[in-house]
Amino acid sequence: MALTIADIQAPIAAEMNRFEQTFKDLMKSDVMLLDQITNYIVRRKGKQLRPMFVFLTAGVCGTINESTYRGAALIELLHTASLVHDDVVDDSNYRRGFFSINALWKNKIAVLVGDYLLSRGLLLSIENGDVDLLGIGSQAVRDLSEGELLQLEKARRLDINEDVYYEIIRQKTASLIAACCAMGARSVNASAEMIEIARLFGEKVGIAFQIKDDLFDYGTAEVGKPLGIDIKEKKMTLPLIYALNKAARSDKRRVINIIKNHSDEPKQVNEVIAFVKNSGGIEYATTAMQQYVQQAKDLLYKLPTSTYRNSLEGLIQYTIERSK
Ligand code: FPP
Ligand code: MG
Ligand code: MG
Repeated sequence: MALTIADIQAPIAAEMNRFEQTFKDLMKSDVMLLDQITNYIVRRKGKQLRPMFVFLTAGVCGTINESTYRGAALIELLHTASLVHDDVVDDSNYRRGFFSINALWKNKIAVLVGDYLLSRGLLLSIENGDVDLLGIGSQAVRDLSEGELLQLEKARRLDINEDVYYEIIRQKTASLIAACCAMGARSVNASAEMIEIARLFGEKVGIAFQIKDDLFDYGTAEVGKPLGIDIKEKKMTLPLIYALNKAARSDKRRVINIIKNHSDEPKQVNEVIAFVKNSGGIEYATTAMQQYVQQAKDLLYKLPTSTYRNSLEGLIQYTIERSK
């Protein structure tokens, strides 16, 4: 039976509790405007899956300690910074069902808040001599930025194939989850071999996570959610890439034309969604996601068994069964 988030969190409930208390304090500033905005962010926090990955992997590989807490805080600061900037990049007015920072305070303030959060993460690591953790985090930030830019470059040309798709999602999503797991393992002084297994495990989970996210655009989960947002933004995801690759030349031309010139017309976007569904794109992407889940599990089973490991297994399952 699938575990709930509460079941998954059980072995690290105390840690997550303490983490939340200290995370708030980390963002405090003497500048009132900043305090107002970081309070807004904390009150609308997400599921905090990334800190959970840090604590659980640390628990699997050794004994959770103070540097694990700092690793989790660094990850959450980087993640939050990246989302604040992402909503500027994507011109998005909503985040987690609430107004985004750029929607409420405008772009220039959102950019600076993102910079502030990033610098808080850097300082936290520097002040505590966490050079290795900072190295892992910095690689992830580089990958995130490259992934976003690669995605923008490809969206302009619509010439994306599966290899490029996987490269984009590895960089823009999987890199940060890989960093969570590598940091967890590093924080408990795991061997280089164990850290690499943990990192690769996180990368596989991250890829499965993003494929799942991309499937939501085709309405595979709860009804009533807006569909076709990626198509509107000319983001070519796996179901669509597969469908286009196997399509007859005339269909391909018709669909590409819609994405290029009519992606803001709901009726036309629905036609693309129907085309993808009729081509078996959903089944194809679902199978690909399951293969990444299996690879993640195979890596996880190389690490010692524990309640933490059971929770990580539950977290993978949650990733592919979640409805939002
Ligand atoms: C969400 O993607 C966001 C990302 C994958 C990362 C964005 C990263 C940057 C903008 C680089 C800056 C990084 C730092 C640390 C300052 P999405 O737009 O596909 O999904 P969503 O908006 O629906 O969450
Ligand atoms: Mg976005
Ligand atoms: Mg984006």
